[in-house]
Amino acid sequence: MAAPVVKGQKIDLQIESLAYGGNGVGRVDGFVVFVRGGLPGDRVHACVTKTKRGFAEAVAEAILEPSPERIEAPCPYFGACGGCRFQDLAYPAQISAKERQVRDALVRIGRIADPPLEPIVPAASQYGYRNKLEYSFTSSDDGVALGFHRAGRWDEVIGIDACLLTTELGNAIRHAVRDWAREERLEPYDQTTGEGYLRHLVVREGRNTGQVLVLLVTSPGERFETGYLVDVLRRFPEVRSVQWAVNESPGQHTNLPAALLWGDDAIEEELLGLRFRLRPTAFLQTNTEMAEQLYRLAREYAGLTGGENVFDLYCGTGTIGLSLASSAGAVSGVEISEEAVACAIENAELNGIGNARFFAGNVGQSLDELVEKAGRPDVVVVDPPRAGLAGKSLRRTGGLGAARIVYVSCNPTTLASDVQVLRDEFGYDLARCRPFDMFPHTPHVESVSLLKQRPSTE
Ligand SMILES: C[S@@+](CC[C@H](N)C(=O)[O-])C[C@H]1O[C@@H](n2cnc3c(N)ncnc32)[C@H](O)[C@@H]1O
Repeated sequence: MAAPVVKGQKIDLQIESLAYGGNGVGRVDGFVVFVRGGLPGDRVHACVTKTKRGFAEAVAEAILEPSPERIEAPCPYFGACGGCRFQDLAYPAQISAKERQVRDALVRIGRIADPPLEPIVPAASQYGYRNKLEYSFTSSDDGVALGFHRAGRWDEVIGIDACLLTTELGNAIRHAVRDWAREERLEPYDQTTGEGYLRHLVVREGRNTGQVLVLLVTSPGERFETGYLVDVLRRFPEVRSVQWAVNESPGQHTNLPAALLWGDDAIEEELLGLRFRLRPTAFLQTNTEMAEQLYRLAREYAGLTGGENVFDLYCGTGTIGLSLASSAGAVSGVEISEEAVACAIENAELNGIGNARFFAGNVGQSLDELVEKAGRPDVVVVDPPRAGLAGKSLRRTGGLGAARIVYVSCNPTTLASDVQVLRDEFGYDLARCRPFDMFPHTPHVESVSLLKQRPSTE
């Protein structure tokens, strides 16, 4: 259908729903327009920014009639800060939009007329849910400040006094580091000129253990007395590890080798009664409460009876595989990051789990070898990044012939296309699917699905 609108045109339209990614969906003569800043139930005045064959994009310039679901955002930085997008949408409307996104993807992309969708699991806490936050240093009228990127800007950071997504402790630690930087007269790094020293602060909290790790990222050079920073942070008894990393490149990474300034090289988090070691860069789901619920559901879907051979693909630090191990015969995990695999092996030892092994490798290339080492799996759990089971991994995973696949997804569109291939080429039916809200006020939506292999008719 040719677009009935052109770039630059101003239009008034009703927003019907939220698309995956967070833009409002409206229509002009039946033609879909994705509207940034439009919420379901709004009538907006918008400017068209792009037209394509099947849809157009626009930005809301004015809300003509606000949605009854609009609320006052509690955070004073809302709108300016790039962190949260939907604090102004009532929480029940946020989760129903996310549930609908998963359903729509399964119908439209997965071609399942009536997907076996279970109700979305709402977040246990709508605020204060993050166990990790990465702040950037910036300057303010009062001196050095710490905060987040301005929405849509890579080169501008706004200093904040409080973030509602972390705890009081997280906010207090950030304040202490800000005050230390002012006292030490250290300059923030400027992304546009490449000058300045202080770059990022990462605070990770083991929410079930009360242990905290703090990582400071600077430009090269030792321009501060490390002992004094440690003294400042040790005023918080929860801080168990203080680390320092140097970023020599203009890129804004925090995934860098870190030097231990004080304390333990890792802290621990507890999930489903198991302990997991947390280093500055190791991946761990950032919402502890919801990670536990997600893993519990993955365990239920896996339906283990004690003897199964389980593959945990994209296993990260082994959290899912290790939480299944006590109900399985054996667990084998595969993960591309060698550092994460080392953590997974360490986590197995830490919990005295003897029937789980972890291997470094690319899922698309290492499954034949894994089958040689571990035998064919009865149950496969996959938890891929947003791209889904990209490339060879999809067909290799389908070809393993497991009776059940438990698919943990952070992107319903790639989930839906993978489910279609697993059904059409490998005989798996989607038996259950449950969306999860791990990240309130953001466009992210996770889900856990159970795929069962159809019984052979031969
Ligand atoms: C969404 S995380 C899941 C981690 C883990 N299951 C958890 O819950 O903590 C996805 C993981 O896949 C890994 N990964 C990405 N591409 C991969 C590939 N081609 N083969 C193996 N692992 C990969 C990433 O390093 C990351 O640890």
